[in-house]
Amino acid sequence: QNISGKTAFITGGASGIGLGIAKALLGQGMKVAIADIRDDHIAEAVAELQGGDDVLALKLDVTDREAFARAADETEAKFGKIHILVNNAGVAALGPAADAAYGDWDWTVGVNLGGTINGVVTILPRILKHGEGGHIVSTASMSGMIPHPGAVTYVTSKAAVTAMMESMRGELEGQGVICSAFCPGAVQSNIAEAGKTRPEKYAETGYEQSDKARQSAGDFSHLFMTKEEVGERVLEGILNDELYIMTHAEFYDGVKDRGAAMLAAVPAKRPINEEYRATFAPLFH
Ligand code: NAI
Repeated sequence: QNISGKTAFITGGASGIGLGIAKALLGQGMKVAIADIRDDHIAEAVAELQGGDDVLALKLDVTDREAFARAADETEAKFGKIHILVNNAGVAALGPAADAAYGDWDWTVGVNLGGTINGVVTILPRILKHGEGGHIVSTASMSGMIPHPGAVTYVTSKAAVTAMMESMRGELEGQGVICSAFCPGAVQSNIAEAGKTRPEKYAETGYEQSDKARQSAGDFSHLFMTKEEVGERVLEGILNDELYIMTHAEFYDGVKDRGAAMLAAVPAKRPINEEYRATFAPLFH
């Protein structure tokens, strides 16, 4: 598939993983809109990308639906059409499930899942309308794939994003739109600062103690992938039409064990109603 000359719209595109994806796609001759809530990230990203005429930097809060439509309009006004949507903006509030306050839930789910929903509702119709085909990549996480205790608000939002891409994929591939769930392990980024953009209305948190404990646990970022490495991996996943774009072989056993646990839970010895199977099983395939 030739993506050169086409346009990508990347949320959270001014830092970390989103910026890495922007670099990789620009390297293929794409035009790229990076949409981000942080002015300082936008300024740094424009400098890092040496933003020529193929970069459009937009200020956007992905939870603001009207603003999302305006950002898409601006991108189309500059580049004509949007072909690749990367729903990547994300935040993390981490801590024990029993401590999670509504503010922790609403902020995390609102940005990570709500922002992805807003991206799809805003941009998918535009991709379908121009009929040139396209791709939707949503940044989920390895945390949404295999059990990750101490992160329930984040895990829930990411598992939902993966499920969205799984559900939409079969529906849309016949219409030329491929859906991918990007499920990285740890990547060097600014996500530890995500709280800086947390709205006042979601300030309520039960995670103050666990945040302190995590911060004093040390810095492991030297073990993480770089944004450039994951950007190239996403590019490869797009070019190969991959459903799950994964990055870290270290999680092989975790993914295998989860799949095996699900298979083991299917009551395979239960008598099968053939009519039910013939009617419904294909819908879930
Ligand atoms: P980052 O903080 O470096 O980049 C995220 C960008 O999204 C930031 O520039 C931030 O300003 C922007 N953003 C936050 N809220 C926004 C909103 N409401 N509207 C628009 N932009 C917003 O963090 P990173 O790590 O690059 O995160 C990107 C995605 O990758 C997130 O969805 C995150 O959950 C996911 N992820 C990150 C991993 C990691 O280890 N860094 C691992 C797995 C997934």
